[in-house]
This record gives sequence, C-alpha cells and structure tokens, in this order.
Amino acid sequence: MRYDVKDLKLAKKGALRIEWARNNMPVLGLVAARFKKEKPLTGLSIAACLHVTTETAVLMEVLKAGGASVAVCASNPLSTQDDVAASLVSHLKIPVFAIKGEDTRTYYRHLVSALAVGPNITMDDGADLVSTIHQDPAKYFRKPILGGTEETTTGVIRLRALANQGKLKYPIIAVNDALTKHMFDNRYGTGQSTIDGIVRATNKLIAGSNFVVCGYGWCGRGLAMRAQGMGANVIVTEVDPLRGLEAVMDGYRVMTIKEASKIGDIFVTVTGDLNVIRKEHFSVMKNGAIVCNSGHFNAEIEIPGLEKLKKSKKIIRDYVEEYTLRNGRKIYLLGEGRLINLAAAEGHPASVMDMSFCNQALGVEYMKQHYKEMDRNVYKVPDPIDNEIARLKLTSMGVTIDTLTAEQKRYLSSWEMGT
Ligand code: NAI
Repeated sequence: MRYDVKDLKLAKKGALRIEWARNNMPVLGLVAARFKKEKPLTGLSIAACLHVTTETAVLMEVLKAGGASVAVCASNPLSTQDDVAASLVSHLKIPVFAIKGEDTRTYYRHLVSALAVGPNITMDDGADLVSTIHQDPAKYFRKPILGGTEETTTGVIRLRALANQGKLKYPIIAVNDALTKHMFDNRYGTGQSTIDGIVRATNKLIAGSNFVVCGYGWCGRGLAMRAQGMGANVIVTEVDPLRGLEAVMDGYRVMTIKEASKIGDIFVTVTGDLNVIRKEHFSVMKNGAIVCNSGHFNAEIEIPGLEKLKKSKKIIRDYVEEYTLRNGRKIYLLGEGRLINLAAAEGHPASVMDMSFCNQALGVEYMKQHYKEMDRNVYKVPDPIDNEIARLKLTSMGVTIDTLTAEQKRYLSSWEMGT
C-alpha cells in the first residue's frame, strides 16, 4: 500500500484522539452500525480530500464499515494532524497522503496520489479533486466516476461555476448546503474553533479588543457572536447590504474595511473572497494588529501587499509571523493566512462534525443509489436526510420536542381557518 505521512510512530496517539472524537459523534455512530450490517457502499472506491483530523478519521471508518475502499489526501497544507494520518495508515490500512506543513507542490502531488486509486466517488473540501480531474479528464476518466460530494462553501461556489459553464462531468452533492451542516458547522464550529486558533497562536486577551470580522455569512455570524461573548468590541465589514444590515441589528458596528483597518486589534477574514485585506489597509493598521483568515483559501489576505510594505519579518511564535513595516509598526500574520482554526487549533469540535459527516456518509449512500437519475449538476442533500440528522442529533442530546396534533396539522395546511 502506498502512503505518505510524517511518522507512523505517531499512530498510537492518533488512535486515542480518534477514539475521543468517535465518542462525541453519536449520530455518525448510528450510521456506522447500520452500514456495518447492510454494507451499502460495497463496490465504491472513494478518494477523499478533507482536513485530516480526528473527525475525518471517524468518517473514514464509517465509509469502510459500509463496504467502500478509501484513499485520503489533505484539503489544506497546514490542517493535517500527523498522528491521525499515521493511525489511518497503521490501524485502518487506508492510503493517506498528507503531512502537516507540506509545500504547495507536495500538496498537489498528494492530490494526484489519492486520485491514483481510480475513484468512482470523489469527496472534496474546496473542490480541489474535482478541479484536478477536470483539468486532465483524459487521465482521470479511464474509469467512470459516478459522482462526488463537497463539504464547504468555497467548493460549492467553484462547482456551481463549473456546472453553469456546462463543464461539470458528474453530479455533486453539496453537503455544505444541508441545513444540518452550515447552520451548525460553519456557525458554531468555525465560530468557536477560530477563536481557539487565535488564542492558541497568540495567547492574546480577546476581552476589550476591537475584533474585526470580515464577512457576515454563516462563519462570520458565529465568530462575531463568540468574540462578543468573550468581551470583544466586534466590528463587521460586508459587501452585501442584507448581511450588513443584519450585523447592525445584531448589535455590531458595521463599517468599511478601510475604516476598520485604523481601529482594529484583531482581524479575521471569513468571506471566501479574494484580497479582502490589502496593502492600503495594512499601511494604516495600528502597531501590533493581528491579521488572520478562517475562509477556505489563503487568498483573503493580500500577503504580497504586506510583503511589499515590510522592512523585515521573523517568526516570533509558532504560527505567528511578525512583519515590521517601513512605517515602524508591527503587524502579526497568523498561520500564513491559512485557515487559522485548523492551522493553530484542531478545527471544529467533533460534536458538530457529527452532523456534517453524517451528511457526507448518507450523501455517498444516496449517490450510489441515485446517480443514474442525476444530471451533471450540483444537488442539495435531500430534505428527508437533513431532517433525520437533526432529529437524531436532538435525540442524542436527550432533547425531546413536541409533535403537531392532528388539529394543528389541519390548521397549518388550511386556508379557510383564520382563527
Ligand atoms: P457565506 O457565503 O455564508 O458568507 C460569506 C460572506 O462574506 C457573505 O455574506 C459575503 O457577502 C461576504 N463577503 C464577500 N466578499 C466580501 C468582502 N470583500 N468584504 C466583506 N465581506 C465579504 O460563507 P460561509 O459559509 O460563511 O463561508 C465563508 C468561508 O469560510 C468560505 O471560504 C468557506 O469555505 C469557509 N469555511 C471555513 C471553515 C473553517 O473551518 N475555517 C468552515 C466552513 C466554511
């Protein structure tokens, strides 16, 4: 079996941390138990490009329990947990191609290695597998690919662009668009873990800081909420008037990035956009400003612009680069501008990934059953699956909700009854 991980000796520690995650993923555990009996994924070969974390390892166990074979590569050069990668190879005999801190060339080589298994299903977080396949279709379509899944907002945007141009070659299930994914994972998962990443990297006090959140989408809402809860003065920047208005009414200060740049202490981008914080913004920032990103690609902070302004730079702590600018001020860039929650912390807590990865596992099962009826398009996770995941999650938390009475059902489906 081919693989490329940092050190297999880390496997034991990885296995224990995976066990911890598994204990916190009860709904995925139910799927695993059913998959073990029914083997609904038999015959599938899955190439998965995901953050190689403990939660991903639990998902891989579930896919294997369902009868699939899997190969894994990282969806970000800095997000791999090397002990998890080692355990996947040693204990689960899964080919893994991922090393924390790998350079860009190795990152893309690893994508190609995972695709070398000849998958009939791709599982992406950011659409890098689909993008690689579509750039060289002759190479990758020797065997038919039935379909794929996509985990994150940025990947879904890329895939919709491909589908809109009529170039997408197989159907994709957009896991991110499930309500049990983005309402919880993007909001509460990114909210908490991004703060965790910033605090682990810097050990800075959040209370009393001017905390600038660029982008008030699902991730931005969660991040702003958590930063405010820790006593920060939260400032939001947006380009969408509705989202800007929502942020105002949620009680935050909303202004342009140009204005925010002058007063912010900590800046976090979560937009999925390009060059949100640029050279002209760095040049007016306060001495000691901290800048980081939790959006998918390291494209949201214009690092070349910061480089142009610098007199010198040094790594002052793990994941903290100190840029001394020609104006004498110091700016701190965290995690090379890559997802700070995965670079400096451990990513989302398992209990929220429980729902996201249930969508992945059930999405793959659905794809296997329905790919023949699906067009080359991007699909939502079917509502019944989404609802069932929410129901099971509530049950696992010991929470019971009410059910509609027959009278209420009649009332809610009628137009005749006003009072
Ligand atoms: P979203 O689409 O809900 O929100 C993005 C927001 O950014 C939108 O409201 C948009 O108007 C705003 N925006 C776009 N350009 C902007 C600009 N120049 N200035 C200010 N605001 C701007 O997307 P979501 O789900 O919040 O995801 C955001 C990013 O985070 C994506 O790249 C996604 O893939 C990534 N993500 C990262 C996770 C992590 O673990 N760090 C987890 C989930 C998503």
